[in-house]
Amino acid sequence: MEFVHKSVLLEETIGSLNMKPDGIYVDGTLGGGGHALEVCKRLSATGKLIGIDQDSAAIEAAGERLRDYRDQVTIVRSNYSNMVQVLKELGIPSVDGIILDLGVSSYQLDTVERGFTYREDDAPLDMRMDQRETKTASDIVNTYSENDLYRIIRDYGEDKFAKNIAKHIVLARTEAPITTTGELTEVIKRAIPMKIRAVGGHPAKKTFQAIRIELNHELDVLRDSLDGMIDVLNNQGRLSIITFHSLEDRIVKTMFRQNERPCTCPPNFPVCVCGKVSKGKVVTRKPILPSEQEIADNKRSKSAKLRVFERTR
Ligand SMILES: C[S@@+](CC[C@H](N)C(=O)[O-])C[C@H]1O[C@@H](n2cnc3c(N)ncnc32)[C@H](O)[C@@H]1O
Ligand SMILES: [Zn+2]
Repeated sequence: MEFVHKSVLLEETIGSLNMKPDGIYVDGTLGGGGHALEVCKRLSATGKLIGIDQDSAAIEAAGERLRDYRDQVTIVRSNYSNMVQVLKELGIPSVDGIILDLGVSSYQLDTVERGFTYREDDAPLDMRMDQRETKTASDIVNTYSENDLYRIIRDYGEDKFAKNIAKHIVLARTEAPITTTGELTEVIKRAIPMKIRAVGGHPAKKTFQAIRIELNHELDVLRDSLDGMIDVLNNQGRLSIITFHSLEDRIVKTMFRQNERPCTCPPNFPVCVCGKVSKGKVVTRKPILPSEQEIADNKRSKSAKLRVFERTR
């Protein structure tokens, strides 16, 4: 199957990096290599791109896409949470720009057997972005307590029927384990009142998002990685992040602000005594959003938000 994925906010993201042709850039969510290719096109022979993804299919597709630039490109299969370590192993102490384009690719969603989509009936409940991991969505659905299921569907899915969905999952699995995306979707439908089901989006969308976030530790990974990425930037180096839902966006917004103004002294202190020094500035007071044209061309871009931080040293 061909790796199809339309890069979101492509020009805006590349523009936001303020690229230097001989700079070193990192794409922490390489995917099909769409953003990375545009970075490569702007590099001179001495510039470099390091591409990271945890998904073997993405690594393969990006390798192919970036073939013409192989002398400048290094691709590493890893979690972006290991970025600083990966760079260290490559002998790179600091970089000029980093891109994160979070979440799953259209390719992952469209490859039915990966189990990310609620639109197909008989895919296994998998949802691993990194196929080397052993825990799958099925383990979450069939072993988490009702309360833990409720908590993740409420917090990561922001579904107001979270309690009822968790209850129906636990009830259904006492009969037989829930093993396919279709079975899970059926159980979720039963937990949502008929009249809401008729008007809302797909009833399983939020629960699937919640399980995917929990399984791949998406929010923890983001939260635990941002400071390290900012630390590894050169003076005027930029970190550009595309998020797809409010939970991710809130983390990026808050952590960018903390890095800009880290001082924790009470406001009535005449001078700063905490000693925490600003790491740079938030370039995007408001996030950059896709144009109406982009949303019309690519539905997936609808919820995208780009935020950019610039390091100063
Ligand atoms: C939205 S796609 C990126 C698409 C890419 N920017 C392009 O234009 O083709 C997100 C990719 O990030 C990867 N990914 C998500 N979280 C990751 C993480 N914590 N570490 C490494 N890769 C991750 C996914 O496997 C997926 O391939
Ligand atoms: Zn202070």
